[in-house]
Amino acid sequence: MRATEPKNHRARAVLSLIGDTPMAPLRFEKEGLTIHAKCEFRNASGSVKDRLAKHVLLDAEGNGTLTPESIILECSSGNTGIALSMVGAAMGYRVTILMSSSASGERRKLIRQLGADLILFESAGRYQTGIEISRAMAAQDPRYFLPRQFENPLNVIDHEQSTGREIVAQIKSPIDAFVHGYGTGGTLAGCGKAIKKRWPQARIYAMEPAEQALLAGECPCCHFIEGVADGFIPPLLRDAPLDGRVEITSEEAMAMTRRLHREFGLLVGTSSGANVVAALQMAAELGPKATIVTLLCDRAERYFSTALFDLPGREQIADSHPALV
Ligand SMILES: Cc1ncc(COP(=O)(O)O)c(C=O)c1O
Repeated sequence: MRATEPKNHRARAVLSLIGDTPMAPLRFEKEGLTIHAKCEFRNASGSVKDRLAKHVLLDAEGNGTLTPESIILECSSGNTGIALSMVGAAMGYRVTILMSSSASGERRKLIRQLGADLILFESAGRYQTGIEISRAMAAQDPRYFLPRQFENPLNVIDHEQSTGREIVAQIKSPIDAFVHGYGTGGTLAGCGKAIKKRWPQARIYAMEPAEQALLAGECPCCHFIEGVADGFIPPLLRDAPLDGRVEITSEEAMAMTRRLHREFGLLVGTSSGANVVAALQMAAELGPKATIVTLLCDRAERYFSTALFDLPGREQIADSHPALV
């Protein structure tokens, strides 16, 4: 039992808006296929990463690692930074996010709006740079608490016990395949374990950008499926019960994401489109009766400045509208 009430106890209602996300069946009429998509964009800050932020910070607070003086410090290209900033704000802790200077303006603004400090670094595409900076900062100042999303075993445990368990409860028939991208690999490993435990015959597939198929032995390279494949194979992925991998091009991912916006009204990010293309490929391979599950990872609002929103405009000045002239 804690001797004192946790910090900012009364402002924590937002934590109850994390997890228990809906599962949506998506019927693709043209393809004659249905897949099941777990709507992780419904988490409070808009991404699957809210789960990790909530679990790691509550755990650290519970075991006394996170103290009122602590400053939460993490390197993140976006969703984890936004999630930690939100959960940190609600729990009453200071948060500092390290981010590559190439990260999009909307992500930076969301983090600052949530009251966190932002430190930008020149990375030349190397994510490891930020991780090294966070370790150097923590070595000099004991107030820093590092969630260490890329190596923290709680990342996998939480997805096995929350996301994975929810999937198993939501899908009544045996799952034939689960396919999902990887950033830290936590979601894929945790959900994969929970699904295999319930249905050992289920196949677990990693989606990765065709431009950077690291699991196929390719080298890091530029792709536009943000949130996944940060240029190295994350250690937590070793824990994933993988049966195979699916390559999706950035172009396919973007085209499907726009279809999800326009045909389904689902305003999600590019990796969700990539996951859906991969799930449809599995469905086509395993047949229309197969049960295929994937995740819609985050909301579209953090991609406004990216190529995803480079669309021919349909805006018109009212005066020039045929009905009004
Ligand atoms: C936008 C986004 N955030 C997070 C994740 C999952 O990340 P992790 O592997 O770190 O659990 C993904 C994976 O597809 C993603 O697309």
